[in-house]
Amino acid sequence: MGRIDELKRRRTFAIISHPDAGKTTITEKLLLFGGAIQMAGAVRARRASRHAASDFLKMEQERGISVSTAVMSFDYEGFAVNLLDTPGHADFSEDTYRVLTAVDSALMVLDNAKGVESRTQALMDVCRLRDTPVVTFSNKLDREGLDPFELMENVEENLNLACAPLTWPIGMGKRFEGIYDLVNKRVVFYQPTERGRRNEQVFIDDLSDDTLDGLIGTLAADKLREDVELLGALEPFDPELFATGQQSPVFFGSAINNFGVKELLSQFVRLAPPPQARPTKTREVEPAEDPFTGFCFKIQANLDKRHHDRMAFVRITSGKYERGMKLAHVRTGKTVTVNNATTFLAQARVITEEAFPGDIIGLHNHGGIRIGDTFTEGEELKFTGIPAFAPELFRRVQLLDPLKAKALIKGLTELCEEGAAQFFRPVEGSDYIVGALGALQFDVIASRLENEYRVRARFESVPLGAARWITCPDRDKLDAFVDQNKRRVYTDIADNYAYIVQSEWAVNYAAEQNRDIQFHKTVEI
Ligand code: G4P
Repeated sequence: MGRIDELKRRRTFAIISHPDAGKTTITEKLLLFGGAIQMAGAVRARRASRHAASDFLKMEQERGISVSTAVMSFDYEGFAVNLLDTPGHADFSEDTYRVLTAVDSALMVLDNAKGVESRTQALMDVCRLRDTPVVTFSNKLDREGLDPFELMENVEENLNLACAPLTWPIGMGKRFEGIYDLVNKRVVFYQPTERGRRNEQVFIDDLSDDTLDGLIGTLAADKLREDVELLGALEPFDPELFATGQQSPVFFGSAINNFGVKELLSQFVRLAPPPQARPTKTREVEPAEDPFTGFCFKIQANLDKRHHDRMAFVRITSGKYERGMKLAHVRTGKTVTVNNATTFLAQARVITEEAFPGDIIGLHNHGGIRIGDTFTEGEELKFTGIPAFAPELFRRVQLLDPLKAKALIKGLTELCEEGAAQFFRPVEGSDYIVGALGALQFDVIASRLENEYRVRARFESVPLGAARWITCPDRDKLDAFVDQNKRRVYTDIADNYAYIVQSEWAVNYAAEQNRDIQFHKTVEI
């Protein structure tokens, strides 16, 4: 198959949901359908990661098992699917945001009883930034929940996203009979083993046909007829609106019972877009372009405990990767010959022989690769839109063994290159500050400093509560500002200046008083 055909069959997406909606369960079913795992239960083990800090740290230490699920690649009905995992724990939302920059579409999983919840909302805000197409799956229809019309209203109101159902539930909870597939005009029965109708699908061209009453009873049949008539008044599914993130096709089912998931996957691969063009500072890169390009959106350490390695996850944006090719690491200007890039299957990692736009390859990173870095065959490109967010929590790092100052800086720099926290060094003085969006990060960093760098450090509270990156087109003005605010200005690992003070109020005040200086809540990395 040629390069263009290969890229056209790629589908790279992530699942967004609120904890407990069923993401893990659905992921597992998708992998089972894709033949990527043989056994249920393989993915569930890692669910603990969203619970307590202690669980999470343990998970970190046992990384070996969880890792292979950072990217899950499998084939389904001729499509090459790359499912990118997003961390379940809210303290890792920054990581999740960046994963979302590497996908072409998203699957939003909702708990049918709850509709849109806070984390779904936050993640959808990120999808909105890039108009990512979103497919919706309403889960847990085997339980009582919102009426499906209410659910769609809930989505439309909370997310300002129009809904276009492609399947429709017949009852719910104890009365859940199955779904009506509005595209293929068939009823798919739910778990009716006792009635001897397992897996049965009945095609019903005309809903007024009596057969329907015979199959699900007159009450349910009449309700379905009524619902479908009401649905006729809705805006039908429009591929254009979907492609621009304005309308979402909606599916219903019950992941735990493996019901409706196959219909979802089968439609998903057909609806979801192939790899899309990506903006850089200078031009847009089309996936069909011949030269290889890609960017790093995630770095993960300790994939393999024995090797103490770090993996840079690179999303391919154009061209073709071939084993042994030379890649330019644009930021550092170095050229590397890549022989051992890794492809991630659900439960295995293999050496990549070739890979195409939409695919994720893992580059072994012995320091030096940072999130946001671009790889090309020589062209000086810089992909944009990969954000770092201003931290909201800050701690001063106190080194417990003064002889380990160098190791501390190395450790903090490398750990912060992974992007979960940010390391700031003051322009004046020696108070090292670590900033994060979630408190769990401090525990993780302290534990990893000790285990991986043999540095014992304590994180102490500091009266800091807000940070902004500062820039100014006039370098002299920026230098003057830094000079006047030496005690409040820090540099991050990429040598950007950051202004860090006690409160949002103080930061806003400073911004008002210094209109020549731009204060940024996010920075492109
Ligand atoms: P998450 O990754 O989004 O956090 O959700 P996960 O899949 O772990 O599912 C959360 C809970 O919801 C689990 O129950 C899971 O079994 C249940 N669940 C998932 N899909 C369905 C469904 O279609 N119907 C019903 N009724 N429940 C569903 P748990 O009790 O937390 O865990 P477990 O004891 O089942 O492992």
